[in-house]
Amino acid sequence: MSEQLIEVVDNAGIVRLTINRPKALNALNSAVLSELERVLAELEARDDLRAVLVTGAGEKSFVAGADIAEMRTKTPEEARAFARQALATLKRLETLPVPTVALVNGFCLGGGCELALACDWAVASDNAIFGQPEVLLGVIPGFGGTQRLPRRVGPAMALDLCTTGRKIDAAEALRIGLVNRVMPQAELEAYAEELTKQLGGNGPQSVRASKQAIHDGMDQDLDSALALETALFAFCFAGDEQTEGMSAFVEKRKPNF
Ligand code: HXC
Repeated sequence: MSEQLIEVVDNAGIVRLTINRPKALNALNSAVLSELERVLAELEARDDLRAVLVTGAGEKSFVAGADIAEMRTKTPEEARAFARQALATLKRLETLPVPTVALVNGFCLGGGCELALACDWAVASDNAIFGQPEVLLGVIPGFGGTQRLPRRVGPAMALDLCTTGRKIDAAEALRIGLVNRVMPQAELEAYAEELTKQLGGNGPQSVRASKQAIHDGMDQDLDSALALETALFAFCFAGDEQTEGMSAFVEKRKPNF
């Protein structure tokens, strides 16, 4: 059987996606993006989905960007279609109803950084390198970087990174809020396991509601967003999870969600 461009490993609804093109440092070409979109469409439909972890194959690279060799000869129309394909795919990832986490295990450049930005948060190995080096190639980010990066790290830092094309290490990525945590590469696996345990042990409905409140609320004015929170808070009381969670506390036992 041919190697999968996206490896999918499912651990009771916590799904790990591995971009698997290590010889090209996991660069995103049209085939990888199509496969990612297909996998995400399947995940979207699953009620038992609890979280999605995204990483890159090998120890050197998360994703070193969109595939430069493939892009080199594109016309403006073809470039527009390519960017639209990627944007639609990353939107699917961003709007999955469960937490999505980028496990950044090396180079995280251009479209790779944009892939990480489409996840809810990122953790990085201490050898990770980040950047939006598109200006060095005569282009700009096209997978959402000019919009998601300033929303994550602020417009001044986004302008710094996008106009200089400079690369930053994991420590700087942590300082500017591009990633939540940095750890030795060997510990990324243990982090993934810890996360699987934590998220797997929490109420799936309340985890989804947390994401919905934060994501949808960020696009609204504060009063509307607070009303959304109240609606979702009340909604939590309509199912079994709240009864189980609060009963378990009172009865001094672990909840069974
Ligand atoms: C295609 C890539 C690639 C990429 C690496 N490779 N990055 N192929 N697209 N983005 C390939 C190399 O050609 C090489 O293939 C193999 O992976 C190993 O890479 P090396 O360069 O030999 O490794 P190294 O010397 O360790 O350098 C690593 C690196 C460098 C610093 C990450 O590869 C690099 O600068 N890559 C490009 C990073 C970049 O500019 N990304 C942004 C792309 S633009 P061979 O066959 O020679 O072994 C972008 C725009 C998004 O993402 C929006 C589009 C709409």
